[in-house]
Amino acid sequence: MAPKIAIVFYSMYGHVQKLAEAEAAGIKEAGGSCDLYQVAETLPEDVLSKMHAPPKPSHIQTLSDPSVLEQYDAFLFGIPTRYGNYPAQFKAFWDKTGGQWQSGAFWGKYAGVFVSTATPGGGQESTVISAMSTFVHHGFIFVPLGYKTVFGTLADMTEVRGGSPWGAGTFAGGDGSRQPTEKELLLATEQGKAFYGAVSRVNFH
Ligand SMILES: Cc1cc2nc3c(=O)[nH]c(=O)nc-3n(C[C@H](O)[C@H](O)[C@H](O)COP(=O)(O)O)c2cc1C
Repeated sequence: MAPKIAIVFYSMYGHVQKLAEAEAAGIKEAGGSCDLYQVAETLPEDVLSKMHAPPKPSHIQTLSDPSVLEQYDAFLFGIPTRYGNYPAQFKAFWDKTGGQWQSGAFWGKYAGVFVSTATPGGGQESTVISAMSTFVHHGFIFVPLGYKTVFGTLADMTEVRGGSPWGAGTFAGGDGSRQPTEKELLLATEQGKAFYGAVSRVNFH
């Protein structure tokens, strides 16, 4: 049976959402399908408005109850960096998963990560590495982007570009005005394809 895949992300300004949509397109191109979820906001409205955060997309379901994820075999997590680490919204989500941790509900499921930072050096790799501890405790199997299908793009130094073998990535710019470039979106699509290729080899059911 085809793997059931969910893309779970947090996005304050839309960059990670754009990468999530490109990842979903990659999964589709590879012959699969997936569901998109955004993790719940934890900041109050007045703080969000001071941070100039736009309203969240209403067409993407908000994930409040982690047990919803138990039906899936594999996950791509989209994470915007906070101090080289993942945001409190993501942590708040994981902190609700004590039940799944104890029962091993996510054990042996597959996980990949894609990220957004303001700048190069802002923590693309460290954000993925920070997520690793949570994955290990739950027993997720990490699937990196690697180089196999994207060597040319990852080795291309002709323009500023986010993304690494750890996963696709974009640079939002110091003021958030930079949008994901063609190459960054390509890496996200290729990650979706490669992720589907890896997890569809597994006999889940
Ligand atoms: C509190 C805070 C901390 C941040 N820390 C970092 C950081 O350590 N490195 C970095 O490059 N960008 C940092 N950023 C910028 C965010 O990573 C950027 O806004 C995000 O990647 C944009 O993605 P989004 O549009 O999906 O929210 C920070 C932003 C905020 C609000």
